[in-house]
Amino acid sequence: MAETFEPTNIIVTGGCGFIGSNFVHHVVNNHPGVHVTVLDKLTYAGNPENIAGLPADRVELVVGDICDAELLDRIVPGHDAIVHYAAESHNDNSIADPEPFVQTNVVGTFRLLEAARKYDVRYHHVSTDEVYGDLALDDPARFTEETPYRPSSPYSSSKASSDMLVRAWHRTYGIRATISNCSNNYGPYQHVEKFIPRQITNIIDGIRPKLYGDGKNVRDWIHTEDHSSAVWTILTKGRLGETYLIGADGEKDNISVLRAILRAMGQPEDAFDWVRDRPGHDRRYAIDSTKLRRELGWQPQHTDFESGLEATIAWYRDHEAWWRPAKAETEAKYAKQGQ
Ligand code: NAD
Ligand code: DAU
Repeated sequence: MAETFEPTNIIVTGGCGFIGSNFVHHVVNNHPGVHVTVLDKLTYAGNPENIAGLPADRVELVVGDICDAELLDRIVPGHDAIVHYAAESHNDNSIADPEPFVQTNVVGTFRLLEAARKYDVRYHHVSTDEVYGDLALDDPARFTEETPYRPSSPYSSSKASSDMLVRAWHRTYGIRATISNCSNNYGPYQHVEKFIPRQITNIIDGIRPKLYGDGKNVRDWIHTEDHSSAVWTILTKGRLGETYLIGADGEKDNISVLRAILRAMGQPEDAFDWVRDRPGHDRRYAIDSTKLRRELGWQPQHTDFESGLEATIAWYRDHEAWWRPAKAETEAKYAKQGQ
């Protein structure tokens, strides 16, 4: 194991989004000596409410774009690490309009790497298992750090490109970087465009949930709190230049997840609509996180999916004011796509 890195003043990009804001809560709750500067553009996916109420002496929000080099020159000096979550994150959006994905995910990462190089700041890059493409349903294999990159969508190819930039900046310029590739997250503060929140909020609204294709696509679910603890572990204990896969052995097909939501919300298990499949829809993701567990001693804590799902459903029931403003527009966009 590498020497422990003890950051005290970090930048979290995308800290008003789903996973970034959960990470900010995790840091505030578990690492009292650390100050967080959130850098977030507040796109449709960013909501300052996600970090509202956190102590002002621990968390500062800077509204701005990671592509803005002058802004980075102003805010990066004085920090000891950048944890980079900001991204365009939704596959369906990337199919409809790929340009912002290249801009934010590729150019934005390039700008942050240049700032990390200029100011000698440690850098952790948050990425996705989707860079590895997909696996067949009947293939016993899971992704490892050695699996070749084979991204399928504009979103996953932009994330794969950003990972490659990080590897090159580490090797060529020696920036102090680590990378993590995580599977599908669920939990509070996830935008209603994503699978689980979309179906929960549809049921609350009396709309039938929508299942793409044949519903057999498999995702490897992890609670976002476990993702946060893994990222903190890699930031502080990971070896520089290394990639760590993050997963919690949560493989499930979409129809099983949807039926679990319907059951938990008191609905018949067949009360949903089959809709048009996503073009290029990845069949199955599955993570082997042995390296992270063995080398850095990380373990997921929230492995009971059914109870995590129930808590997530309760969160959406209790936070209608949070998701309501985005719901109608999101569904209108899906309706146009036949989904
Ligand atoms: P999200 O869409 O919920 O949040 C993205 C955040 O980034 C928003 O707050 C948005 O305002 C901000 N942002 C977007 N463009 C920006 C820009 N140019 N400058 C500054 N801020 C900008 O995304 P998420 O689901 O929380 O994903 C966060 C990260 O985790 C992404 O890098 C994603 O690839 C990765 N990831 C997500 C999952 C998942 O299941 N959601 C799994 C593995 C990895
Ligand atoms: O694997 C990690 C990735 O997980 C992250 O990198 C992405 O940022 C994140 O969005 C997520 O990508 P997916 O495309 O897997 O997530 P999404 O929630 O969009 O869809 C999950 C599965 O559910 C997928 O197989 C498509 C399907 N789906 C989705 C929606 C929105 C449906 O069947 N119906 C739906 O309405």
